Amino acid sequence: MQHKQISLLFSFSMCVLILRLATAQSTSNTITKAANITKPGCPEKCGNLTVPYPFGIGSGCALDPVFEIECNVTTPFIGNFQVYDISDSEMRISNSVGRSYYSSKGILLLPHNSAASMDLGAVHPYSISNVNKLTVVGCDDGSILTDFYFASGCGSLCSHNSSDAVIEGTCKQENGCCQIDITKGMKSFEIEMTTMYNHTGVWSFNPCGYAFLGEANRYQFQGLTDLNDTNFVKRISDNVPIVLDWTIGNLTCV
Ligand SMILES: *[C@@H]1O[C@H](CO)[C@@H](O)[C@H](O)[C@H]1NC(C)=O
Ligand SMILES: *[C@@H]1O[C@H](CO)[C@@H](O)[C@H](O)[C@H]1NC(C)=O
Ligand SMILES: *[C@@H]1O[C@H](CO)[C@@H](O)[C@H](O)[C@H]1NC(C)=O
Ligand SMILES: *[C@@H]1O[C@H](CO)[C@@H](O)[C@H](O)[C@H]1NC(C)=O
Ligand SMILES: *[C@@H]1O[C@H](CO)[C@@H](O)[C@H](O)[C@H]1NC(C)=O
Ligand SMILES: *[C@@H]1O[C@H](CO)[C@@H](O)[C@H](O)[C@H]1NC(C)=O
Ligand SMILES: *[C@@H]1O[C@H](CO)[C@@H](O)[C@H](O)[C@H]1NC(C)=O
Repeated sequence: MQHKQISLLFSFSMCVLILRLATAQSTSNTITKAANITKPGCPEKCGNLTVPYPFGIGSGCALDPVFEIECNVTTPFIGNFQVYDISDSEMRISNSVGRSYYSSKGILLLPHNSAASMDLGAVHPYSISNVNKLTVVGCDDGSILTDFYFASGCGSLCSHNSSDAVIEGTCKQENGCCQIDITKGMKSFEIEMTTMYNHTGVWSFNPCGYAFLGEANRYQFQGLTDLNDTNFVKRISDNVPIVLDWTIGNLTCV
């Protein structure tokens, strides 16, 4: 069971998530702040999600193919990402979490430890909001976030390899957690995980390391619970979305 779950999570984190968006057409216009209006004859909702124009469910219902939401029974998707909500300027979509997992002897049990990535394509209307942060959780972990132009990252340890150093609620570098801001306007990212001692000094209470990009105020560090939680990846995927900024920008509002 445990083994099956790990290999499943592995193939998930390995999977390069790609959301390629077609180039939109030009002619500028101003968007007036409209209410929830759906294009006539088009479905208004997918599951619980109200889909306002310029977005639309299915072909012909959106202003442009880049705003098309696919509705799989009751679950809305854009590309490979589940859509949780859409507001005037933001969209919340599903996250993926990078993880590394070691044996007590420091052997990486996942054959490769690179993690999550996303590519929105070089075109508007989407970019990765700076309400997201890069978060790394673990007592012997670091992560490097790269996009096309920049690389940044942070690392976390636990003072003296001790579980006593871990304080719930406080995401600090010497405490098993670190968090950094990201550059506004990113269109893609890749997260790679690093380690210093392969968790050999901290394995008894922290066999895994994690890194993810997501809405910062939706995550609070839960100390030792987070450092030894086989359900961590699912918990973060379910609760910490990635926020995208969207703009109608250059498109005609019919
Ligand atoms: C609108 O799109 C055209 C062609 O894609 C581009 O040349 C132009 O700079 C864009 N204008 C704005 C305001 O983004
Ligand atoms: C938009 O739709 C939601 C859900 O159907 C509804 O609760 C809300 O009142 C609507 N807002 C406007 C401005 O119509
Ligand atoms: C819709 O929302 C309700 C209440 O929050 C929840 O119980 C239900 O599972 C949701 N349905 C879908 C399809 O997401
Ligand atoms: C749609 O949802 C069903 C049930 O969750 C799933 O089995 C199926 O693979 C999904 N299809 C697509 C195209 O995502
Ligand atoms: C950590 O693991 C890697 C890959 O399994 C291995 O090459 C390296 O020697 C290990 N380092 C330590 C300090 O155990
Ligand atoms: C933490 O554990 C590693 C691996 O056993 C060890 O090399 C390192 O010196 C330890 N650090 C401290 C501060 O004890
Ligand atoms: C870590 O979690 C495992 C599995 O849930 C549990 O058996 C173990 O006792 C936990 N270790 C610590 C130090 O909490």
